[in-house]
Amino acid sequence: MRYHSFCGVFVTMTTRVFSGFRPTGRQHIGNYFGTIRNCLQLQEEYDCFYCVVDLHALTTLDNTVTLQEDIHNMVLDWLAAGIDPNKCVVFVQSHVPEVTELHMLLSMVTPLSWLLRVPTFKEKVRMHPQNVNYGLVGYPVLMTSDIALYKGEVVPVGEDQLPHLELAREIVRRFNSIFGEVFPEPQAKLTEFPMIIGLDGTEKMSKSADNYIEIGAAPEDIRKKIGIAFTDPARKYRGDPGHPEICNVFTLHKMFTSGRILEIERECRNAGIGCTDCKKMLAESVIEYFGPFRERRLELESRPEYVDEVVRDGARRASRIARETLSEVKAAMNLLP
Ligand code: TRP
Repeated sequence: MRYHSFCGVFVTMTTRVFSGFRPTGRQHIGNYFGTIRNCLQLQEEYDCFYCVVDLHALTTLDNTVTLQEDIHNMVLDWLAAGIDPNKCVVFVQSHVPEVTELHMLLSMVTPLSWLLRVPTFKEKVRMHPQNVNYGLVGYPVLMTSDIALYKGEVVPVGEDQLPHLELAREIVRRFNSIFGEVFPEPQAKLTEFPMIIGLDGTEKMSKSADNYIEIGAAPEDIRKKIGIAFTDPARKYRGDPGHPEICNVFTLHKMFTSGRILEIERECRNAGIGCTDCKKMLAESVIEYFGPFRERRLELESRPEYVDEVVRDGARRASRIARETLSEVKAAMNLLP
């Protein structure tokens, strides 16, 4: 239990936040602003569990060749960004195998019809009709098990995860109504930061769209990537006036060069600067912004066992709660002699 000063009085902070993240390797700017920064804030106020959901990743992977490397790099980025294992529990889903048992038990109270109408499931079926496996249908049940196993009360999610969370609430309610109140009903906490558009200027920044900049990228790579980013689609020649309101590079400047944003806007509109200059400036701002992060990451890289220690300790702390919850669940279901 942790304590928190509130109006000068110490109150216990027991509200539990649970969030799961698919292991996507080195994190990019979209992950940083959409997720990591949010997690940094929450760890100051809540009892947070941050979990790398490697089992969920298996529902859509063709192979697992880079899985361990992806987990390692993702956790390393989190830690370098300031996720603090003294303030929250950082762990890997499969290291606490109780979640698979709870998944099995919760699957018994989950009507198949609920799972078949989940939008992300229907989308996956449409995109990859040859790979509709049993695990994929149960994806939201596993997600519910994550949250329920640790009695998560608040779940920070992006809008795309809302249907999953609604389903989690329904499954938990159904379980509680049949077997008695074991789980709290988890509440979604929507991430407020606007979606970050990638360097192609059209799609959400992501690894799959290959339009991203890693927050730990070397300065040279950042310059190269931003150098070929799409800018104002209506500006054809260097002498044309620009339109910052439709330029994704300008949107990125608002995040990274906020101190000079009025000047950039004016110079773009009157063609005082061209897109190439504008992108060079952005690259330098991004390099500077993530400078302390890169240094911290390098420092942590020099202790290769550090990430393993953090997730091992996280699994130990998570296991204690997992075992307790699972015993409660089994008792409620009359599975104990
Ligand atoms: N489904 C989430 C995603 O695709 C990942 C996830 C798994 C999750 N378990 C969770 C998110 C529990 C929140 C809570 O991003």
